[in-house]
Amino acid sequence: MVQTSGKETYIQTLFAERLGGALFGKEQKIYKFEKIKRTKRAALAAHPGVGLIDFGVGEPDEMAFPSVVQALQKEAEKPQNRGYTDNGIQEFKDAAARYMLKVYDVNNINPETEVLHGIGSKPVLAMFPAVFINPGDITLTTVPGYPIMGTHTLWYGGEVVNLPLLEQNQFFPDFDSLSADVKRRAKLLYLNYPNNPTGAGATREFFEKVVKFAKENRIIVVHDAAYAALSYGTKPFSFLSVAGAKDVGVEIHSLSKAYNMTGWRLGFAVGNERAIAGYGTVKDNYDSGQFKAIQMAGVYALDHPEITKEIAAKYERRLRIMVSVLTEMGFNAKMPAGAFYLYVKMPKGIKHGKRFACAEEFSEFLITEKLISTVPWDDAGAYIRFSATFESKGREDEQRVFDEFRKRMGGLRFEF
Ligand SMILES: Cc1ncc(COP(=O)(O)O)c(C=O)c1O
Repeated sequence: MVQTSGKETYIQTLFAERLGGALFGKEQKIYKFEKIKRTKRAALAAHPGVGLIDFGVGEPDEMAFPSVVQALQKEAEKPQNRGYTDNGIQEFKDAAARYMLKVYDVNNINPETEVLHGIGSKPVLAMFPAVFINPGDITLTTVPGYPIMGTHTLWYGGEVVNLPLLEQNQFFPDFDSLSADVKRRAKLLYLNYPNNPTGAGATREFFEKVVKFAKENRIIVVHDAAYAALSYGTKPFSFLSVAGAKDVGVEIHSLSKAYNMTGWRLGFAVGNERAIAGYGTVKDNYDSGQFKAIQMAGVYALDHPEITKEIAAKYERRLRIMVSVLTEMGFNAKMPAGAFYLYVKMPKGIKHGKRFACAEEFSEFLITEKLISTVPWDDAGAYIRFSATFESKGREDEQRVFDEFRKRMGGLRFEF
């Protein structure tokens, strides 16, 4: 049993069942990201002086653009910006509506009633189950994927039904696989395109199918567009640009990845007026709004989407090199439609050598033996995710990272 620090008190016996009850903090199971952290630590200790190549990071490697930082500095100095902002300032809502039009050609957003900010998209996703889920209701969610809405559904006594994202289905969920009972009890559908981790992008045809499915089954769609502005080869694509989408759901946008603003905590929900109103009521009971100066810097950012284009160009450059390096090594690597991840099937083993039972084992091998960090996914096939957000000291240094990656992987002949 994992030891907890300090003396046991009655507090240990009082934890809610949703956290494991009296066993909270004592479980044997170590979760994936904690395991990766520990393996990294052990590998670095075993090989002092050898740096880690970290392809496991899920956030931008650079800071926000100077113009956005300056906007924050200016706004932070204004006494009138000091207080609670509750459900957000109108300037930010107006900027979000302008942004939806400029970047996604979505021209029917009422900034008074159909937009509401969030302290990042994570809390917005966490709050949606509170808006709609009663005990016994179902949230449909895609796996592999971002689990927040599912976790909160369970906490409200709901159920989660996973829809696997399979390569043979272009990483789209198969709604036909659901039983009549599940479709009847389903209230929320979580989707995320461009998708973390698969890198898949949505098509208009798929989103039209989603609208139809949602209408037929009276389901609310929550489209997580955290990476939507980072798309390669095609224009950024919004669920709300599809006919009827606003009747069935909302889209959650984030400034985290699109503007290198992860730590700033700013995003917004946009779409169906009733769903936004419900989110507003829940939000009002959780937080008192993001700092006005951050929202104003967000206004500046949203009015300058060319910043995102510059950021996307960097990831695209890196991803293209990664695809070619991984292809050389035998992986089936394809350029993703968006986001900053490359999701590749793991090898079954090394020629005349080690076998890998699952992606977690392969990822562990890469960290321990090669000091290369990735994120494994075993939810729908065994894959590992390489992120293009690794740290480098400028553009030339990127090449050094790839050369070092090649060198460390050199000599390994994988079997797929
Ligand atoms: C798919 C997805 N959605 C949402 C988020 C949360 O982003 P934020 O809360 O920073 O807006 C992340 C962060 O990694 C993500 O990968």
